[in-house]
Amino acid sequence: MEKARFITILLLLAAVFALQGQSQYRKAEQSGITFEWKIVEENKLQIRLSAPAEGWVAVGFNPSNMMKGADYKLAFVDGGRVFMEDHFGTGNISHKGDTEIGGTEDFEIISGSEINGTTTVEFKMPLNSGDAMDSVLTPGGEVKVLLAYAKRDDFSRKHSRRTSLIIDL
Ligand code: HEM
Repeated sequence: MEKARFITILLLLAAVFALQGQSQYRKAEQSGITFEWKIVEENKLQIRLSAPAEGWVAVGFNPSNMMKGADYKLAFVDGGRVFMEDHFGTGNISHKGDTEIGGTEDFEIISGSEINGTTTVEFKMPLNSGDAMDSVLTPGGEVKVLLAYAKRDDFSRKHSRRTSLIIDL
């Protein structure tokens, strides 16, 4: 009986720690953009991205040079709905939708809002989607991250601000 109670308490504690681990975002703030990330479901990256404008917000991973070679996820919110696209850096200052160049859309939208001039979106993406147009992300490793936002809900519109940083995934 004592043993059963002990095991129950241990299991409850393990569940509490597991839930706490899941809810903790790590955070970076640069050029007015807030980028938060956490590993979920063992093989996905969950992201919350926020910028001070009512246009698109985006993150890019692992460029080879400038914007080239990066795996981009761009999103905007319009009428309470989140619109999102998966892109690939086809040149130093250009990118195309994955589906236009033989790839696939690899993300799951969680939520999005536009409040007092700030756009926030939350989504998940696979750490390794298997799509050649996406980055393979390894937890524990260093990753170069590009962040940008624009003032319009138009993915072909250039960023009004952009920045880059290195994170420990
Ligand atoms: C339609 C969309 C986009 C257009 C037309 C565009 C265009 C450009 C151009 C012309 C430059 C060079 C001039 C400058 O520094 O401003 C540039 C640089 C840059 N862009 Fe974009 N961009 C787009 C989307 C993005 C996205 C989605 C990101 C990141 C999430 C991004 C990140 C960057 C970064 C970090 C640089 C500086 C690269 C360096 O100097 O190493 N861009 N972009």
